[in-house]
Amino acid sequence: MAEFTLPKNSKVKPGKTISAANGATRKKKFQIYRWDPDSGRNPRLDTYEVNLDNFGPMVLDAIIYIKNDIDSTLTFRRSCREGICGSCSMNIGGTNTLACTKSISDFNSDITIYPLPHMPVVKDLVPDLTHFYNQYSSIKPWIQTNTSAPSNSERFQSKENREKLDGLYECILCACCSTSCPSYWWNSKRYLGPAILLQAYRWIVDSRDESTNKRLDQLEDSFSLYRCHTIMNCTNTCPKGLNPAKAIAKIKKLLVSRLT
Ligand code: SF4
Ligand code: SF4
Ligand code: FES
Repeated sequence: MAEFTLPKNSKVKPGKTISAANGATRKKKFQIYRWDPDSGRNPRLDTYEVNLDNFGPMVLDAIIYIKNDIDSTLTFRRSCREGICGSCSMNIGGTNTLACTKSISDFNSDITIYPLPHMPVVKDLVPDLTHFYNQYSSIKPWIQTNTSAPSNSERFQSKENREKLDGLYECILCACCSTSCPSYWWNSKRYLGPAILLQAYRWIVDSRDESTNKRLDQLEDSFSLYRCHTIMNCTNTCPKGLNPAKAIAKIKKLLVSRLT
């Protein structure tokens, strides 16, 4: 349900400022959301001024530099540094994206970094994705079959059927789209959100799957799917260039076509 008052101690206050070392020639300020649940204090925005000559060109390079060389208490997720694992998703300069594929040169002024919006925060830039992953699990993201597998081969797929998965299989479950979706902000308990619905569609259109109707049945209620109002934030923000809104529209079309 929508919450109209801010939780106690949630207001973000100004934090500390750390200046770049003397002699720095290419200075840049990063303002980073900090919150430590054990401190009992409000979240704050710390400012780190750094010399861009000291690290690589991506926002994640800057965050890693800040942690390694300036403030080891800064907490964030990352793994692949290649835009593949989806761990480093955060809100950078007002947009949800991957820190490892976001170039610092895209910003002319200071860069502000917050955790993904409208998610509980574990610490600093780390959101709690437990509910998001539970929703992913609820769509049973694996092939379900009733028939026996061929005895001496895998279940083949034609080239045309394989192509139906393009634009879907590339999803890295970074949650940038779901956490940019106003419908998901207000109804995330029951609305599955764009990332999970794109994944649901990925299994619905898989020619090898034999549970298509069951999968559609599961989505046919007033919340799981139909809270999407085609606002398109999801598609605009996806750092992998995918189109969750289109996948959602295709599920709606399939549900309608079952009625005729
Ligand atoms: S659709 Fe895009 S933004 Fe959404 S979870 Fe997948 S990769 Fe991330
Ligand atoms: S198109 Fe649907 S899923 Fe995407 S942001 Fe809008 S309401 Fe959310
Ligand atoms: S670190 Fe893996 S996607 Fe950014």
